[in-house]
Amino acid sequence: MKRLLHIIATPRGDDSRTLKVTAAFLEVFRKKYPSCYIDTLDLFAEKLPALTEKQVDGKYVLLSGKGLTGKLEKSWSEIAKTIERFISADGYLISTPMWNFSVPYPLKHYIDVILQPKYLFRYTENGAEGLVKGKKMVVITSRGGDYSQISPLRSYDFEEPYLRAVFGFIGITDINFINAQPMDALGPLVREDKIALAKEAAKIVANVF
Ligand SMILES: Cc1cc2nc3c(=O)[nH]c(=O)nc-3n(C[C@H](O)[C@H](O)[C@H](O)COP(=O)(O)O)c2cc1C
Repeated sequence: MKRLLHIIATPRGDDSRTLKVTAAFLEVFRKKYPSCYIDTLDLFAEKLPALTEKQVDGKYVLLSGKGLTGKLEKSWSEIAKTIERFISADGYLISTPMWNFSVPYPLKHYIDVILQPKYLFRYTENGAEGLVKGKKMVVITSRGGDYSQISPLRSYDFEEPYLRAVFGFIGITDINFINAQPMDALGPLVREDKIALAKEAAKIVANVF
C-alpha cells in the first residue's frame, strides 16, 4: 500500500477514545507498510467545500450525463480537489465516534461532498455502479452506549449500516469495523477494558490490511 487516507471525525484530539484505538492500528500498520504515506484528513480542522445552489446545480448536470463548463466548473474546483484526494488513496481508515446514533456532522458533510456521479459512481442500464474498486477500508468507532449484536440498542446503530451502505455504493465493500463500546454507559472501568479489547482487534485488523 502506497497511500492511506486517514479520515478523522472527532474534535477531541488526545482525549479521543476513538483515536486511542486508532493509534494501536497505526502502530502495526506503520510496521507493515513502512513506506506508506499516511494522508491525515482532520475533518474538524480542515475546511470542506460548501454545497450550495451552484454546486448542487453542478451535481444535477453530472447526473444528467453531461460535463461541467464555465461558472459551474469553477464552482466545482474545490469539490473536485476533495474527491481527487479521496480517489488517490489505496486504502482508507476512518476514525469516528457515534454522534446521535450516526456520524458527526463533518463526516456527513464530507460524504455529501465526495459522493458524486462520474467520479465515484455512475448509473448504467443495470443500475448504479460504484467506481472505487479493489480498495480496503477500516472504520474505528467508539460509542457511549453498547450497540453490539446482543444489545437492546442494536437497532439504534445507524452509524455502521450507514457507512457500509454509503461506501458499498461507491464500490468499497471490503470494510472492517472496530467498535469500542460502551465508552460512557457503564463507567471508566468498563471503558478501559473495552478500549483495550478494541486495540487488540485493531492490531489484528492492521496485520491483515
Ligand atoms: C454530540 C455527541 C453526540 C453523541 N451521541 C451519542 C449517541 O447517539 N450514542 C452513543 O452511544 N454515544 C453518543 N455520544 C458519546 C460518544 O460516542 C462517546 O463518548 C465516544 O467515545 C466519543 O468518542 P471520542 O472520544 O473519540 O470523541 C455522543 C457524544 C457527543 C459529543
